[in-house]
Amino acid sequence: QIFLDALMQGKTEHLTTRYSKLREQAEQKLSSEAFLYVDGSASTQSTELNNRKALDAYQIVPRMMAGVEFSEFSTEREIFGRTFANPLIISPIGVQGQLHPDSDVATSQAAKEVEVTFCLSSATSTPMEVVMEKSQHEEAWFQLYWPSDDDVTESLITRAKKAGYKVLVITLDTWTLGWRPQDIDAGYNPFIKGMGCANLFSDPVFVEKYCEGKSPLRDGATADDVQQAALSVATQGLLTSGKARTWSELAQIRKLWGDGPIVVKGVQTLTDAARAVEAGVDGIWVSNHGGRQVDGAIGSLQALGPISQYIRGLPKDTKRPVIVFDSGIRSGADIMKAVALGADLVGIGRPYAFGLACRGQEGVEAVLKSLIADFEMNAALAGCRTINDLGPHSLVKSGEES
Ligand code: FNR
Repeated sequence: QIFLDALMQGKTEHLTTRYSKLREQAEQKLSSEAFLYVDGSASTQSTELNNRKALDAYQIVPRMMAGVEFSEFSTEREIFGRTFANPLIISPIGVQGQLHPDSDVATSQAAKEVEVTFCLSSATSTPMEVVMEKSQHEEAWFQLYWPSDDDVTESLITRAKKAGYKVLVITLDTWTLGWRPQDIDAGYNPFIKGMGCANLFSDPVFVEKYCEGKSPLRDGATADDVQQAALSVATQGLLTSGKARTWSELAQIRKLWGDGPIVVKGVQTLTDAARAVEAGVDGIWVSNHGGRQVDGAIGSLQALGPISQYIRGLPKDTKRPVIVFDSGIRSGADIMKAVALGADLVGIGRPYAFGLACRGQEGVEAVLKSLIADFEMNAALAGCRTINDLGPHSLVKSGEES
């Protein structure tokens, strides 16, 4: 459809441009601090660059005469007992209020519109209940940065469940923010200004314990109220806990969340994947946070093959966690590579954030639709009839013969 629109109109308004162009367009729209906050990564940027290198290290081997009917090409997936229209998921991104006034609601509604699985960040600009009310997702995920305060943790998890979020994601890699020179040079940290704290500021337990019962979101709250509350968040480890938890502590989360699916985000080694399986998780999200946390680290895709092989090799009577992958996905070919190496769902990060910055909900939809179209067309041209035809046999490493 995107292709047809472009041909009919003689141009396209769909943000189908390459990532580099999309990024440029977003840069023009945003304040330099907000742009650098989203665009930036840890210290020397090498992890982010390694994400790209790891994806480029594989090449797709196209097959011809495979009897592909493009109109019947199916990208459906069965996950947690439900059918998903495509393998994409919105990776949780905090502080979207700095990108567009419609922030999380725009992203959530765009995801619903194009049938991409939605994952809401802990660090939103809109309380989780409001986002859910406006978009009425049947299958949204909620990502939690695990607070140091157990009462606040319990309250957030109870609220997420009550609001109708079906899957709980615990992000492991961000118990404190990475060293990000561009933000330090700009003296910019959105959380210190109270941005991205809507879930805490609307939390009855947080308000009672840290704001003397007066919500910084109430009518009549002053800038000073917001500042004081934001300082509590930062100094008490309420957004990111300020300390790395241990695997045995996950049992606390299971108790609070009940039997629903729990996914751990930020896994990069086989050892941690094995610990996660032992801990009884339902999903492993292979991610290095888009290179924003540990500098000088492996590209996230390097971790995917070994982890998915291990998961698929687990005995039949062991629960096999779903595998989500993100970090560095910029095109249909990137999505194909992640699926071929075993990802059940593939997370999109900065591309949709830049779409949001350019044109709000419509911009997010345009970016997601383009990625889906690029993925479907590329996979079909490479000889896949369904997404399930993709596997390790679909790829070779650079320099290897096909
Ligand atoms: C993130 N990410 C993130 N992850 C998370 O678990 N909770 C969060 O609140 C955020 N916030 C956030 C803000 C910004 C500006 C960025 C760029 C990223 C990480 C995100 O979920 C995902 O792992 C990466 O964005 C994936 O990498 P790419 O696609 O951006 O390269």
